[in-house]
This record gives sequence, C-alpha cells and structure tokens, in this order.
Amino acid sequence: MTNRVLITGGAGFIGSHTALVLLEQGYELVILDNFDNSNPKALDRVKDLAGSKALELVEGDVRDPTAVNRAFDNCGSVEGVIHFAGLKAVSESVTNPLRYWDVNVNGSRVLAATMEKRNFRTLVFSSTSTVYGEPENFPLHEEMPTVPVHPYAQTKLAVEQMLNALCRSGNWRIACLRYFNPVGAHPSGRIGEDPLGIPNNLFPFITQVAAGSRKKLNVFGSDYPTHDGTGVRDYLHVMDLAEAHSSTLNHLLKQTSPHQLTLNIGTGCGFSVLDVIRGFEEATGLSIPYQLVSRRPGDVPKLEACPQKAKNILGWSATRDLAQMCRDSWAWQRANPTGYRDVL
Ligand code: WQD
Repeated sequence: MTNRVLITGGAGFIGSHTALVLLEQGYELVILDNFDNSNPKALDRVKDLAGSKALELVEGDVRDPTAVNRAFDNCGSVEGVIHFAGLKAVSESVTNPLRYWDVNVNGSRVLAATMEKRNFRTLVFSSTSTVYGEPENFPLHEEMPTVPVHPYAQTKLAVEQMLNALCRSGNWRIACLRYFNPVGAHPSGRIGEDPLGIPNNLFPFITQVAAGSRKKLNVFGSDYPTHDGTGVRDYLHVMDLAEAHSSTLNHLLKQTSPHQLTLNIGTGCGFSVLDVIRGFEEATGLSIPYQLVSRRPGDVPKLEACPQKAKNILGWSATRDLAQMCRDSWAWQRANPTGYRDVL
C-alpha cells in the first residue's frame, strides 16, 4: 500500500476540492495539470487548508505520453488514478468538436494506455449527466438511455464505453461518475470556481452579478416545460462531489478486479433558474437583477438525478442544501473578486 493517488486536472474546480478531501484522509497526491483552465495557486491553498505538503505537481498535458509517464515516474507506485483533465463547455464543444474529441477522448486513451503498460488498473473517471441528452422521464437512473446531444457529452460517453471495454478485457477496477451540476466552494472561501472570461455557468455568473462585476443575469429561456418555465438542474455542492470521489476510490480499492461501476452523482432535487436566483437572494441578502431572454442553444429543459445507486453501493449521498451552495459560492467570490489571478 503506497496510499499515493495520481489526479489529472487536479488544479481545477472539482479536482482541487477532491485533492483537499484526499489529503485530509492521508493520501499522498501527484497532480498532472496543464493549467489550460486552472491555476497552480489553487494547490498552494489546498496544501494550506489540509496542513499537508503531500502533494506534488507535474505540469503537463494528459494527451502527451511523455508528460503522463513523467507524472507516473514521480509517483512510483499508485493506489489509483482520478481523471478530471478535460474540456466541459457545452457551447464550445459545438463550435469546436475536434478539440473535444482530442482532449477528452484521446487524452483519456493516452492515460489508460500508460496505466495498462505500468499495470495500474484502478481508475475513477469524471463523466457527466449530459450523456442522458433530453430525457422525458425523471429522476434519471443509470440504466436510462444515453442519447448525448452535443460533442461534450458524446466524448464523455465514448470514454465510458472505452473504459467499460477495458474492464471486460482484463483486471481493472473502474468507476464512471456522471456529475449533475457542481456548484459552490469550500466553506473557507479559499478555493472555488474560477472561470476564465465571461462565465458560461449559472452560479459563477450570479456571484459576479452579486459582486457588481456584471450588471444583470440573462435567464436563458422561460418557456420550458417546467414548473416556472425556466431550466431545471440538479445542483450539487462541490464538497459533496469531492467526498463522492473519495468514497468511490475507497470502494474500488476494496474490490477484487475486474470491477465496473457507473454512478449518478447528484442530490435528486432539481431547482429552476428562478428557484436559484430566489435561493441565492434569501441565503445572502443580496439582490440579483435578471432579464428573461431566449433559450441558449444546446440547453435541455431538465436534468435531475436518482442518486439511489450511489447511496446503496457507496453509502454516499449529498448533505449540503441549496442555501449552503449559495452561501459558499458567494463567500469564495467575495473573498476572491478576481479568482486566483491578481488582476482580471
Ligand atoms: C444551468 C441552467 C441554463 C447561465 C453544466 C456544465 C456541464 C455539465 C452539466 C458536468 C441552465 C441557465 C445559465 C446563464 C442561465 N457539468 N443559465 N443564464 O448548462 O447544465 O451544464 O452542467 O458535466 O459541463 O456546463 O449548466 O450552469 O451553464 O446552466 O439562465 O447565464 O442555468 O439555461 O438552465 P449546464 P449551466
């Protein structure tokens, strides 16, 4: 037992929160990140928060076999790998599909091939609820049809299929976690979501409106078949998601291989955009001016998880509510108006 874990994309939003939880559990970490959409400062803060120095950083791209081998060389032997590195902007995947197939699929292939060569066969993969496409029945459980409607989701499903085939070919232990909507931040306000430029996602846009750096929120669509016409999503506190990763890794390490797992990671409770605006205002006492505008291409009306399988297998369920998500995302934004950068 080396209790060492390699995390790709570990300097990112979900990766940094997961790294903190694993450090606090006594794991030693090697992090491979190209800082394409992250900042090494996040890892300095993670080490501070954990009171641990057991984190080594390798700057490199998961598509580059030399960089991936260098990261494994730095690890020596690893208990497992958690693979976050990838692209996740839905609209960008529509305008630039080849980049998504390269980073998300080829990057995952290079990682898995390197692991196979070194006989490291325990992997947690960051997948997405958007593989369900535009479902009609809710809540969503893992056996429901996967009908991805944009390249981001198509690439994530392709990697799931590649990893499932790997599991059938030999003694691997692999879990694919289908995230719903990760939001919020560590309650310290020291680490959080730091989007580059204009935020794609709802929560960082709302916190920037709250901070006064954006005038108002555009609500994309008010004619969806939902309780108030605006899009419904299953928002999940990033700390709950980080804890789901450590529960999954610890579960895999107890299994004899081969072992394959696909899990929805969500709360099971969907909120509309207007619900979130109201919840944020109630939780923080701040006002969020907004305007109802037309739908955003690629958006689906509703995504809401059935998280029962993760509860049954891992004993994991989300514990933080919408108010906590709003309070913690605002605490991060207020303490870090320009994110990890000194200036925007
Ligand atoms: C949420 C709701 C928008 C911005 C995200 C990630 C994706 C994946 C799934 C993990 C929708 C509305 C948004 C705004 C708005 N994550 N909205 N005004 O689209 O569900 O996708 O979760 O795999 O990688 O991007 O999240 O936060 O962009 O949108 O009205 O300015 O908020 O229409 O209903 P989405 P989002």
